[in-house]
Amino acid sequence: MIIIDKNKCIGCSLCVKDCVAFDLKVKNGKAVAANKSCIQCGHCEAICPKGAITITGFHDKTIEMEQVRLNPKEYLESIQTRRTVRQFTSQSIPQEVIDMILEAGRLAPTGGNGQGTSYIILDQKKEVCEQIAVQMFRKGINLGKRLIAFLSNMEIDDHFFFKKAPLVILIMGKDKVSASLAAQNMATMAEANGLGVLFSGFFTTSVNLSKKIKKELGISRKEKAVTTLVIGYPAVKYNRTVHRKDIKVRVC
Ligand SMILES: Cc1cc2nc3c(=O)[nH]c(=O)nc-3n(C[C@H](O)[C@H](O)[C@H](O)COP(=O)(O)O)c2cc1C
Repeated sequence: MIIIDKNKCIGCSLCVKDCVAFDLKVKNGKAVAANKSCIQCGHCEAICPKGAITITGFHDKTIEMEQVRLNPKEYLESIQTRRTVRQFTSQSIPQEVIDMILEAGRLAPTGGNGQGTSYIILDQKKEVCEQIAVQMFRKGINLGKRLIAFLSNMEIDDHFFFKKAPLVILIMGKDKVSASLAAQNMATMAEANGLGVLFSGFFTTSVNLSKKIKKELGISRKEKAVTTLVIGYPAVKYNRTVHRKDIKVRVC
C-alpha cells in the first residue's frame, strides 16, 4: 500500500511523474494513490521532497542518502582486470562479508520489481551435492568429449565443481535476467571484498538435471537454478589483462 500523509504533501507531482505504474495523481493539490497498479518499486517514496509517502509491507527501513557513484575509470579498470577464479585458499569468509554479498543481490533490480530471486547457500549439503554432480558428469562426459572440443581433455576430479571454495551460492528464479543481475551484483561485491568468483554453469546444469540434488536441497519441480556462484579467497594472482574479441555493435 502507498500511504500519503496529506499534511506533508505539497502537491508537487514529482511522485506522479516518476510512477512507472500510473498509480498516482494529484487531486485538489494533494497526491492520491489508487493502489491498483502499484508494483511497490518505492520511487514515489524515494523522490518525495517532504517525506510524505510510505510504502507498507516491508521489514526494512528507507535511508536518507544521496546517490553514491562509482569512479568510472576505476570501475572500468576493475572490470578489465577481473578474472574468473578457479583456485582458492582454504581461508573462510567472515559472516559480515557473506551478508554484504547477499545484500548486493537483494538490492538488484528485478523485472516489474517482482523480487522473485532467491538464494540457497550450500553448507552441510555442499559435499553431497558436489559428489552427485561429479558422478553425473563422469557418466555423461564421454558423449560430451566426442561432441565438444572444449570437453575433450576434461578430467572430473572430486572438486570439479566447487574447487574447494568455502562459499557456494545457488541463485534461483523464474526471471533469468533478474537473477543474473543479482548474481553480477553479488560477484562484484565479493570481488570488492578481495574474493574471487567462479560462475559455475556446470553445477547449475547439474542442479536442473538432477532429481537427487533437487531433493537434497529441497528444490521443487517448478524452481529453476539460474546460476551458481563459487566464492573464496584467490590462490592465484593475474599479472595482466586477457584478450577479448572486437565488440559487435550495430547502429540502426
Ligand atoms: C554463465 C557462466 C557460466 C560459467 N560456467 C563455468 C563452469 O562451469 N566452469 C568453469 O570453470 N568456468 C565457468 N565459467 C567461467 C568462464 O569459462 C570464464 O568466464 C572464461 O573462461 C573467461 O575467463 P574470465 O572470466 O577470467 O575472463 C562460467 C562463466 C559464466 C559467465
